[in-house]
Amino acid sequence: MLKMTKNILKIIAILGCAAMTLSSCSKENPPLVYFPDMYFPVAYDPLMKAEDAYSKHENEIPAFVKNNGATGLGPIDGTVSQNPEGIADPAANTKMTPDQYNGGYDESKLITASPLDPANQAKDIERGKKLYNQTCAACHGVNGDGQGPIVESGAYSGVPKYADREITVGSVHYVLTNGRNSMGSYAGQLKPGDRWRVSLYVMNAFKGGTVAAAAPETAVAATPAEPAADATK
Ligand code: HEC
Repeated sequence: MLKMTKNILKIIAILGCAAMTLSSCSKENPPLVYFPDMYFPVAYDPLMKAEDAYSKHENEIPAFVKNNGATGLGPIDGTVSQNPEGIADPAANTKMTPDQYNGGYDESKLITASPLDPANQAKDIERGKKLYNQTCAACHGVNGDGQGPIVESGAYSGVPKYADREITVGSVHYVLTNGRNSMGSYAGQLKPGDRWRVSLYVMNAFKGGTVAAAAPETAVAATPAEPAADATK
């Protein structure tokens, strides 16, 4: 009987101490946390150097040392690059306000050359044609007249003739990267280099060269923007 009372007293004492220890935590005196990264996980980018977030970044993390500190492995040999030309692609898939979109669109009109190597232009345009016929012709038509099969079927309308639009290789690229009114973005379907190839093809096949001859004033005026004229994306 006496032994049991002793045990109970011990337990109360231990609980009391624990309660005091915990209640003494404050901002100035934060509690000690064992294995903090279990409770507050640290997010690493797979290929950046992982640092120990709890030691003022001095410690290397042993598990990743053999991989130059990165938590993810590099691509294996034979991996096919999604962007072999290394073309900068900052605009794709970013949320933009209408002002940002319109500003980017205006700037893109000033771009009259693609970043692709001009030495490969004939090949690039050839590939652009193939991709255009696969991706764009359903609406825009193989002749760029806005009379693709979807439009002819009556299921979809408002697709312009390229001849009526004042476009440059840069603005075509911008529109197919970011969309425009009822035309969506094709950034998810065409790789960065291929978006420029399609743009080159559009300019070459339908605008008489990669640099646009500005559309005649009347044509621009006669082709108001879509009913939902606000280019919100
Ligand atoms: C689902 C139908 C559809 C498809 C597919 C489509 N477009 Fe369009 N496109 C439109 C419509 C509708 C517009 C008119 C948008 C506007 O200006 O209001 C348009 C407009 C354009 C313009 C003119 C934009 C400007 O600055 O005036 C270009 C250039 C263009 N598309 C290129 C392409 C290319 C290149 C592809 C293929 C990657 C493509 N489109 C695929 C429907 C489509």
